Amino acid sequence: MALAVVTLAAGKGSRMKSDLPKVLHPLAGRPMLAHVLDAARALPDARQHVVIGHGAEAVKASFADDSILWAEQTEQLGTGHAVAQAMPAIKASDTVLVLYGDVPLLQTDTLRQLLQQTAGDALALLTVELADPTGYGRIVRNGSGLIEAIVEHKDANEEQRRISEVNTGILAVSAAHLARWLPQLSAANAQGEYYLTDIIAMAVDEGIRVNSMQPQHSDEVQGVNDRLQLAQLERSLQRRRAEQLMRDGATLADPARIDIRGHLSVGTDVHIDVGCVFEGDVSLGDGVRIGPNCVLRDVHVGANSQIEAFSLLQQAHVAEQCSVGPYARLRPGAELAPGAKVGNFCEVKKAHIGAGAKVNHLSYIGDAQVGERVNIGAGTITCNYDGVNKHRTEIGNDAFIGSNTALVAPVSIGQGATVGAGSVVTKAVEDEQLAIGRAKQRNIDHWQRPEKK
Ligand code: UD1
Ligand code: MG
Repeated sequence: MALAVVTLAAGKGSRMKSDLPKVLHPLAGRPMLAHVLDAARALPDARQHVVIGHGAEAVKASFADDSILWAEQTEQLGTGHAVAQAMPAIKASDTVLVLYGDVPLLQTDTLRQLLQQTAGDALALLTVELADPTGYGRIVRNGSGLIEAIVEHKDANEEQRRISEVNTGILAVSAAHLARWLPQLSAANAQGEYYLTDIIAMAVDEGIRVNSMQPQHSDEVQGVNDRLQLAQLERSLQRRRAEQLMRDGATLADPARIDIRGHLSVGTDVHIDVGCVFEGDVSLGDGVRIGPNCVLRDVHVGANSQIEAFSLLQQAHVAEQCSVGPYARLRPGAELAPGAKVGNFCEVKKAHIGAGAKVNHLSYIGDAQVGERVNIGAGTITCNYDGVNKHRTEIGNDAFIGSNTALVAPVSIGQGATVGAGSVVTKAVEDEQLAIGRAKQRNIDHWQRPEKK
């Protein structure tokens, strides 16, 4: 039996006060809707249907490569009407799972358990107990505890409003039943909408069993209506990820001060200080230490390397036993071989830094190949750009580049060569040579300073 997942995402989300459709607001760096789709994608044999309305074009454009079946709901006439828009693309033999695009923290496990509750052709509801159930649909049960109906807050009487078990909106039922019930919905209620929740009473009338279950964590079914709720869910998602990292063997200086906006994998005994942001795919080898306030995006850091405070690394590869920062910037294509060091206020781009080489202070190394054990003095610049094209710099093993050197690319420095401090190097230096390209020093005796007139 195939599964049709129908995610409702047509609502306006007025309380976000935003031009961006609500379901595109990012949570952990990705649109809310992407989290919902991910949770459902992990279910076996699932086909994804998304009902869109407000900002439909923008929503579609954000998921251009996915195999999603879009259903347009041009007027938002209620949740029942929304599900009906997806029905033409759903087979009668399918099971339908209804999700909300603005309830992003649902776990696949919870959905799996909910689907089990449909056994025996039952309707399965995900419910939750709330201290303050105001605004939600209430779960009305009979004397034997069986569900009889869902009554929306605005339609509920005093007694029903005291019920603290509410509808999360998430449910699963066979498509054949839905196809029979949806056309029977009426909008004769307090909101003038076609309520999906009215199918519960229809099921009960037909003698179809209504089962319910509750999620493990209540934040799983928390919806986002405004930016405050979005920020709360961001923190609970980050907390979840931080706890997983600690279970994986990482020490976090403060699990409340880390942001993972992608996938972070860690070896054993990794230590991460406060204020770090991880984006894209980041992997940290055993014993890696990340200092405070670092940002790593699509980066691998090898075992026992250290990234010191305030460093920014993007699409870089750092081998084992390296040291980076503080205040270092590794840009795309920066590759550090084992034991290399890139120190404070250095920028490295599209450059290989050989094993044991040091770029310690205030340097820019771009479009370069730096050999093993090379020492790059403070303030060295590879002048890689002539205003039109980029050119490469090659530095052989064991070369020593004096401080404040300008290496005007294309240029090469041989193995074991030495460049005197303050040189502007415009032509190749051969192996073992010393190159000095600076004005000769002149000392003038008894120099008289000018006097004030
Ligand atoms: C709904 C439920 C309520 C439940 C609550 C949980 C109904 C009638 N009520 O109420 O029992 O406690 O969710 O949060 O189902 N949507 C559309 N098209 C529409 C209407 C809504 O796509 O025409 C989407 C919205 O974008 C949203 C979701 O459906 O993602 C829920 O809609 P919302 O208006 O928030 O429903 P509630 O009134 O809160
Ligand atoms: Mg709502």
